[in-house]
Amino acid sequence: AQIEKGNYRHYMQKEIFEQPTVVAQTLSSYIRPVEQTVALPQMDFDLAGVKRITIVACGTSYYAGMVAKYWFETFARVPVDIDVASEFRYRDPVLEEGGLALFISQSGETADTLAALRHCKENGQTIAVVVNVPTSSMAREADLLLPTHAGPEIGVASTKAFTCQLAVLAALAAHLALVKGKLTAEEEREIVRHLIEAPAALNAALAHDDDIAAMAHLIAPARDVLYLGRGPDYPLAMEGALKLKEISYIHAEGYASGEMKHGPIALIDEAVPVIVLAPSGPLFEKTVSNMQEVRARGGKVVLISDAEGIAEAGEGCLATIEMPSVHPLIAPLVYAVPVQLLAYHVACAKGTDVDQPRNLAKSVTVE
Ligand code: G6P
Repeated sequence: AQIEKGNYRHYMQKEIFEQPTVVAQTLSSYIRPVEQTVALPQMDFDLAGVKRITIVACGTSYYAGMVAKYWFETFARVPVDIDVASEFRYRDPVLEEGGLALFISQSGETADTLAALRHCKENGQTIAVVVNVPTSSMAREADLLLPTHAGPEIGVASTKAFTCQLAVLAALAAHLALVKGKLTAEEEREIVRHLIEAPAALNAALAHDDDIAAMAHLIAPARDVLYLGRGPDYPLAMEGALKLKEISYIHAEGYASGEMKHGPIALIDEAVPVIVLAPSGPLFEKTVSNMQEVRARGGKVVLISDAEGIAEAGEGCLATIEMPSVHPLIAPLVYAVPVQLLAYHVACAKGTDVDQPRNLAKSVTVE
């Protein structure tokens, strides 16, 4: 069936706005809301015995994997290796017995990721996949299929598949932590409660669409844009930069906030907007000092934070975008929204082809 845009101008816009619904839809198959526990599909291997996780993916799916690395390590204390699929096989990775290899893909067909999956299979790894197309090659070849229920994603730049991937990965991390004895049943319930809040928090983030549209003209003239984040917001900074370059053709880079002084700071002047993703919390102060380094060089900062963060550090920024105050676990889902919307509105301001950006394909089936 043909998928309609309805009242939206672009598929990408429609898909951004579908996120509260499709994340809820995805979570509903991984969570028992009454018991407040995670429910994973049947597996015929011992999840508690997993000693190491290897994550492989491309593009936006790779950034979902980078966020998940924080979760698997923080909650389950399982070490994680992560690679882009096109590099993975060529570094001759060490794949030990008992390893779990996790592939993340919207399409389930990306050639590099599929080749990496087969390589891991040949090398005795248990194969888990997070895919949005349940009939895809990756889905068929997996030992553990963890579907996202984002529905068909038409816009070439991935949006709703990403937040659905994060929802599944958070549930998986919580469950792994539980079976490994790193979380108590009560702590698991607490995580589940936070996940259940994600759709409402996504709605609250989407409510800032007009503010973001209104500030897009501040970014549209830039030749370069820098995105900064720390901890799980570092992959979000890279995802923000990827979204912007994909659809607006503005050169953008995502950097770990603390690493800026080792290079990108040389680029900072009045012409390079710096988008800082920084929910308030233990990492906030350090990021604020990175913002000051930017400002001291005449750089213009757009701060994306919660009310507390904006009250503390919003003054003197070119613009601020206020996100709801959320638990750190769901912050990466929520902060995905403003970077998607910003890329979207900048692209609209520039008049590029949002849904079909030049040179890009929805699914890349060549290596
Ligand atoms: C292409 C798309 C991206 C996507 C990447 C990985 O580059 O344009 O939006 O993130 O492929 O695709 P996958 O289907 O494996 O998630």
